[in-house]
Amino acid sequence: MNKTSEGMITAKSLAASYDGKIIWQDANFSIGRGEFVAVLGPNGAGKTTLFRLLLGLKRPSAGELSILDEPPKRGNPRVGYVPQKHLIDNEMSVEAIELVKLGISGGEWGFVIPCRGECEKARMMMRDVGAEHLSERSLGSLSGGELQRVFLAEALVSDPDLLLLDEPLASLDIRRQGELVQLIRNVTKSRNITALLIAHDINPLLPVLDRIVYVANGKVAIGKPEEILNSHFLTSLYETPVEVLKNSQGRIAVLGVEEIGHIHTHEHQL
Ligand SMILES: Nc1ncnc2c1ncn2[C@@H]1O[C@H](COP(=O)(O)OP(=O)(O)O)[C@@H](O)[C@H]1O
Ligand SMILES: [Mg+2]
Repeated sequence: MNKTSEGMITAKSLAASYDGKIIWQDANFSIGRGEFVAVLGPNGAGKTTLFRLLLGLKRPSAGELSILDEPPKRGNPRVGYVPQKHLIDNEMSVEAIELVKLGISGGEWGFVIPCRGECEKARMMMRDVGAEHLSERSLGSLSGGELQRVFLAEALVSDPDLLLLDEPLASLDIRRQGELVQLIRNVTKSRNITALLIAHDINPLLPVLDRIVYVANGKVAIGKPEEILNSHFLTSLYETPVEVLKNSQGRIAVLGVEEIGHIHTHEHQL
């Protein structure tokens, strides 16, 4: 694998559709190694769909997509993934460290890994995300923020070049959102990993993000925060008046989007 490649992800005239219905099209962008990218846009716009393409779970309906100059492929250890919804309930008695070990084996629940190098690696990864003390806890007993750390460890343990996180901040309070964002930033920057993070609220990400991918109105735009998060740009993207407000603390609110943003659209799981 070419570790020095500039283009981690390249999309050319890329389109995604389900059953012939186009979700977005003509996406052209390139994302470099080590970039921290927020993926924004209303519910149902096709953000998770972009991840499904990158994970090789879905083929583009047009155009080209590559990760490190190769087409996406399923189960690629170069790509770490934290899914949107975890199928964890409080009955889940599996120890946290077992989930992290799965990230090495790519195996299935119940696949017992002899505790040699892999086990040590999983423990080190738990330590790096500040979750060492959670290793022996059952998944069902963990809080939302603790679970996110464990899933982060699982996604990182295979030493990926690219990390995809689908709404990891959902259901965390503002302080925990900030802590998780800093953690993700620190572990990815120190390893030079490219991170794409789908978020509903841009504010917790503003201190750390390099660029924004904005998915809306059948289109995918990319740019620096100041290029994307302004009334002029978003009005042209949505093709309807959108207002971006910034308060004295630098917090951003996008007005006008809720009405046009299919907020009641059903979310599909992977
Ligand atoms: N498996 C599927 N089959 C058909 N339509 C789907 C499927 N998954 C998602 N969609 C539709 O594609 C659109 C984009 O979905 P998604 O990528 O999940 O949006 P987002 O993550 O931005 O909320 C939505 O209209 C959704 O209903
Ligand atoms: Mg989604």
